[in-house]
Amino acid sequence: MAGNRTFTMLKPDAIENGYMGKIIDMIIQAGFEVKAMKYTRLSEDQAKEFYAVHKERPFFGELVEYMTSGPIVAAILEKDNAVEDFRALIGATDPAEAADGTIRKLYAESKGRNAVHGSDSDENAGIEGRFHFNENEIF
Ligand code: RTP
Ligand code: MG
Repeated sequence: MAGNRTFTMLKPDAIENGYMGKIIDMIIQAGFEVKAMKYTRLSEDQAKEFYAVHKERPFFGELVEYMTSGPIVAAILEKDNAVEDFRALIGATDPAEAADGTIRKLYAESKGRNAVHGSDSDENAGIEGRFHFNENEIF
């Protein structure tokens, strides 16, 4: 059975470009309930650990630099079928390929600076949520 929680980050470009409120509103209007949320900034070590799966990729250095370049919003969201439905709401990694009406189509700058993160599995949703929040910060 699909899990009911996912983890997201509104990335530095989304905050910098003034889309924080619009994106949070889209998420809530799509039926996701906020279970934890914080406005914060990733350290270099945190960004490297969070994206460790990509450490051999050519874009890794750029990704870490971008993800630490400014504030982010981290959140745990709840909805039936959360992981899959949230990936549908954000759209493809590259906004040029993202479907109309998706968050990345509307608000992402580029494939690298793509406004929002969404967990890709129930297992990773749990790992990523616990990476950013203590038990007592999760509702
Ligand atoms: P995310 O993990 O952030 O939700 O994104 P995703 O699953 O759609 O994409 P993934 O393949 O996991 O890539 C992680 C992030 O790395 C940056 N990226 N840049 N320049 C490039 O070719 C490139 N490819 C990926 C993006 O910020 C992407 O979201
Ligand atoms: Mg990913």
